[in-house]
Amino acid sequence: MKKVLTLVALMALGACTGQQTHNTAEPVNISSLGRSNITDVRPADAMPIYPKKGASIERSFIHQPPLIPHKADYSITIKKNGCMTCHSSAKAQRMKATEIHSSHILADDKLNNKYFNCTQCHVPQAENKQKLVENDFSNQ
Ligand code: HEC
Ligand code: HEC
Repeated sequence: MKKVLTLVALMALGACTGQQTHNTAEPVNISSLGRSNITDVRPADAMPIYPKKGASIERSFIHQPPLIPHKADYSITIKKNGCMTCHSSAKAQRMKATEIHSSHILADDKLNNKYFNCTQCHVPQAENKQKLVENDFSNQ
């Protein structure tokens, strides 16, 4: 019994000293961020304006992956392809969207996974007030 008590006492002592070491650490100054003044301000960038869904954009050359005439912020993850919600063969008609091209589909009617990452080839177009990258592409 005596032995057990000593052990408990020693453990309690250990815990105390542990805490003490912690208390002597440098205090963290959590208010410093709130005190800094932001002086370098400017108006927000103009938001890009995306075309309304419904009108496809004319292609510049044959077999061009058509440009996306809407925002393309649908997520494409391993589990779910957000674009297929509207463009898959099963859903396209109901969603009033063009069905994916036959080249994207395997014989069993499933999406060929080589085409899984839609935005690798299809890119959205928007009216941008901000200059993006120079582009002097010509289809001639
Ligand atoms: C909520 C439904 C919906 C989702 C989700 C969606 N689209 Fe669309 N998409 C449409 C509609 C509607 C149109 C306009 C009709 C058309 O041209 O297919 C369209 C048009 C397009 C076109 C032009 C087709 C053409 O022949 O000109 C492409 C390319 C396209 N979408 C790609 C994508 C990609 C890539 C994604 C995922 C990032 C996506 N869409 C997600 C509804 C959707
Ligand atoms: C490797 C490049 C590539 C990828 C990835 C890709 N596409 Fe395409 N897509 C094309 C090309 C090229 C065409 C045009 C085919 C043609 O007209 O010969 C096309 C055509 C289309 C069309 C128009 C079909 C039509 O009949 O007018 C739609 C809609 C489309 N793709 C949607 C998608 C969706 C949704 C995904 C993702 C699941 C996807 N694409 C992935 C290259 C790609």
